Amino acid sequence: MKKTFRSAAWFGRMDKDGFLHRSWMRGFPPEVFDGRPVIGICNTWSELTPCNAHFREIAECVKRGVWEAGGFPLEFPVTSLGETNLRPTAMLFRNLVSMDVEESIRANPIDAVVLLCGCDKTTPALVMGAASCDVPAIVVSGGPMLNGKYCGRNIGSGTDVWRFDAMVKAGTMPEAEFREAETCMSRSAGHCMTMGTASTMASMVEALGLGLPGNAAIPAADSRRSALAHVTGRRIVEMAREDLRISRILTREAFENAIRVNAAVGGSTNAVIHHLAMAGRVGVKVTLDDWDRLGRDVPTLVDLMPSGRFLMEDFYYAGGLPAVVRALDEHGLLHRTAITANGKTLTENCKNAPNWNAEVIRPFDKPLVASGGIAVVRGNLAPDGAVLKPSAASPKLLKHRGRAVVFENIEHYNERVKDPALDVDETCVLVMKNCGPKGYPGMPEVGNMALPPKILQKGVTDMVRISDARMSGTAYGTVVLHVCPEAAVGGNLALVQDGDFIELDVPARKLHLDVGEEALNKRRAAWKPPAPAMDGGYQKLYVDHVQQANHGADLDFLIGCRGDAVPRESH
Ligand code: FES
Repeated sequence: MKKTFRSAAWFGRMDKDGFLHRSWMRGFPPEVFDGRPVIGICNTWSELTPCNAHFREIAECVKRGVWEAGGFPLEFPVTSLGETNLRPTAMLFRNLVSMDVEESIRANPIDAVVLLCGCDKTTPALVMGAASCDVPAIVVSGGPMLNGKYCGRNIGSGTDVWRFDAMVKAGTMPEAEFREAETCMSRSAGHCMTMGTASTMASMVEALGLGLPGNAAIPAADSRRSALAHVTGRRIVEMAREDLRISRILTREAFENAIRVNAAVGGSTNAVIHHLAMAGRVGVKVTLDDWDRLGRDVPTLVDLMPSGRFLMEDFYYAGGLPAVVRALDEHGLLHRTAITANGKTLTENCKNAPNWNAEVIRPFDKPLVASGGIAVVRGNLAPDGAVLKPSAASPKLLKHRGRAVVFENIEHYNERVKDPALDVDETCVLVMKNCGPKGYPGMPEVGNMALPPKILQKGVTDMVRISDARMSGTAYGTVVLHVCPEAAVGGNLALVQDGDFIELDVPARKLHLDVGEEALNKRRAAWKPPAPAMDGGYQKLYVDHVQQANHGADLDFLIGCRGDAVPRESH
């Protein structure tokens, strides 16, 4: 029997409303309204999101596949999030875009959707929105840029910016060279080509089963990216016919697989927050403890910046994510029942995947880091947890006790860090407050705060840093992030003072502020919350409703799936 799609409630009617719905869709022949599945192509193209600026071409490739398989493709825009341009931070708008996506899908005659994602927040935002509607959905990532090239060597997005910036401040790189490097980093279409947040999230959607095999790593400029988009267009039509909804793919097993894969690829700390938020939309309970437990015994195999040496282009040529999935599966680290967008399980898809370069995708007995994953530390400074990426940290600082040098907010940091009179040495712990979801607002990527110039000039490149902020997935260092509860809601982070001693013990998963409870209570009684940056508009909605980072920083009223039903007509 021929399947009736939800779009039939618009296009399948023979009354006045059917007339209205069809007649205004000009330019298409009448047979497109014959009950075939309508495929939405959710496009985050924008010239203000340079990582996604090639998405119109990708959308055309998807459409070819949709037409070929007998579907009716309709492309629609949603707000785009360009990481490098948005102020105060793109993360402030992730949840807003998820609403845009959810409402656009539900309100329109869409039976299944292709999500075109690239720059960091566009991926979780689109997945969250589609998950709250629970329609069949598949992701096409935009793909990473080609390797950056500077002075005859590869340079990586973000990672080498932080490195060069430290060199300029240390006086070891002339500013003219810094400017020259700027023109050499972003050489083609695509998103950051380190294992930053965009590449991590592209790996995550492939590990979750939301993208076809190979989706994570094919460079944007490689013709195989267009071919993948074409095949994805074909596949989404089948998914609509099979009613393979996103909730059947986003299972507990799939989320656990993604945590393991993130550890193996040396993925971004931002993956934790987005993963928790995506899981929340389909009602799967994942916690920070799952991240710590499941990632701990997984070695980091992928030798990519910021943890290692290579870049996404190298990763693709080495075999990409399928080779990593195969290695994890052969060591019994993946659930074998998790089904993916092509109807097969993750492990079925990857069981014969080759590894062409054991330098880039290392074997289990020669990993980049023996215990990859994200470490979750707790203690009186972070009772609800904080995260750190051991593969990007300095091993000697993973157990460290030091004197706190405190910055009350980002402005205080910017003004104070350059002060030659600042009482700081490399054994100190830099602490920044009021950069969490509510405090900034939006939890920006400032947690990897640059070291004071006088420390850099000594040749020191890492210190323990602690904040309620995030950091770019391209960044590195012994950086404790996402401290919960954040300072702006009165977490103990708000009470730290210059001269306090802080103990970080990553092997023991401990973060302790060495100040007695009595003294902390006195400080708490004197503490006043910071004034909001803006007391109206979307920022107010966000600050009033955003959850803490250990719950994914989603808005409380957006958590969960609301389905695709809209029983009422518009006229
Ligand atoms: Fe867009 Fe890095 S700035 S992916």
